[in-house]
Amino acid sequence: LKVLSVVSEIFPLVKTGGLADVAGALPAALAPHGVEMRTLIPGYPAVKAALGKGESVHRFDHLFGGPAQLIAGRAGGLDLFVIDAPHFYDRPGGPYVGPNGIDWPDNAQRFAALGVVASGLGLGLVPGFVPDVVHAHDWQAGLAPAYLHYSGTRRPGTVMTIHNIAFQGQFPAHVATMLGLPANAFAIDGIEYYGMVGYLKAGLQLADRITTVSPGYAGEILLPEGGMGLDGLLQARSHVVSGILNGLDDETWNPAADALIAAPFDVKTLKARAANKVALKVDFGLDPDPGALLFGVVSRLSWQKGLDLLADSLGTLLDLGAQLVLLGSGDADLAGRFAGAARSHPGRIGVRLGYDEAVAHRIQAGSDVLIVPSRFEPCGLTQLSALRYGALPLVARVGGLADTVIDVNEMARTSGVGTGVQFSPVTAPALQLALKRVAGLWQDKALWKKLQRNAMTTDVSWERAAKQYDTLFRQLAAERTG
Ligand code: ADP
Ligand code: GLC
Repeated sequence: LKVLSVVSEIFPLVKTGGLADVAGALPAALAPHGVEMRTLIPGYPAVKAALGKGESVHRFDHLFGGPAQLIAGRAGGLDLFVIDAPHFYDRPGGPYVGPNGIDWPDNAQRFAALGVVASGLGLGLVPGFVPDVVHAHDWQAGLAPAYLHYSGTRRPGTVMTIHNIAFQGQFPAHVATMLGLPANAFAIDGIEYYGMVGYLKAGLQLADRITTVSPGYAGEILLPEGGMGLDGLLQARSHVVSGILNGLDDETWNPAADALIAAPFDVKTLKARAANKVALKVDFGLDPDPGALLFGVVSRLSWQKGLDLLADSLGTLLDLGAQLVLLGSGDADLAGRFAGAARSHPGRIGVRLGYDEAVAHRIQAGSDVLIVPSRFEPCGLTQLSALRYGALPLVARVGGLADTVIDVNEMARTSGVGTGVQFSPVTAPALQLALKRVAGLWQDKALWKKLQRNAMTTDVSWERAAKQYDTLFRQLAAERTG
């Protein structure tokens, strides 16, 4: 079975968040199932540099305002189709925003190009790889199912996966006229969304199947609070909506063979973990204070992640005699609040602002508890790494967080199955109670070890998800040919 994955970022080439991790891990996870997955991605400078020359497989004289070519090749262990469109992607800055942090003004065109090329590949542009299924990720790929739907020819099956419904790719109505879709596409049963063009909406409306990245989130997006305006559409199509829980790349995240951490360890050599805590405290300039509970955070700093609630709860954390290390990038106000807290409480709170893969690994390996207080979380990957590395996750009871962390409640304790702590509602007072609860658990060293062992032996691999995607893709392919 051939599947074309269509995505705007992919680890290890270009990453702003978990989407890249998932897109990067899926092809290898699906290969043992006989799924040949190739990924279509924009030719950002980092992608082109990693790809080298590649093989030019198609030329476009005019791709929304400039010439472009499609290059096939391998990079970062991945089979790729890269859209080499210098007028769109050959720029410094991020995949979505310029160096000034503002959305690229031509994002509508940049990601329409991704959709139209995906559709071309779907319809046989490259005879050596004609996919049975086109798998589109998030709004940036949302037009791929739309172009295929309106192609009016025999087409592959389409799957639209939601990694984050908060980003919907909405553009002014006049964008509709440049897309090259039939005029009737700009309608409620097409790409139109509240008088605008909605790229995610288009994908959700027109794909054969819709998935999201946890069963919990699949339920939440059907309701007004979680659907962010798309719940009505999703309700109407709920028969094709499902949640497939993400896995974790177990080569990138393996505490037993992690070159980025001070001392590798596994569940049988848990004692060796302590050296990572010591090293982490040194790195962040914290007091040695060996008995102190060390909390960690690895996160984008945004409203979604609820870290303002943690900023509001630092007094409680300090009163408990605990310490905090935080690695984060994003929102400047929030960054300023944490940087200020670190200045006011040297030795107790350490903050690193920016994006740093190595520090992320060291926090997972060295902190006792990883805090993820998200207001909503489609899946979340940091709590999965935390489980694997024996940092007990303290999470908001939402979406994928609720699906992956087993709260040490009374029954879980009796049955010996807990792996972390959940809190709800997602408010600062509830988080403060959870911090106190964790500090209580920390006093019971035997229980803590047991929880760590439970966490570290939780199956966070891609295996389960790969089976589910495989089944979905095959059912869909059979429907299309049958
Ligand atoms: P999201 O995609 O919403 O940001 P996820 O938990 O799914 O959340 O994925 C986040 C990914 O990005 C994880 O791989 C995490 O380790 C990584 N990450 C987040 N913030 C940072 C940072 N400041 N430095 C390094 N890695 C980070
Ligand atoms: C998004 C979500 C996150 C999820 C990731 C990968 O970035 O915010 O919860 O883990 O996509 O699916």
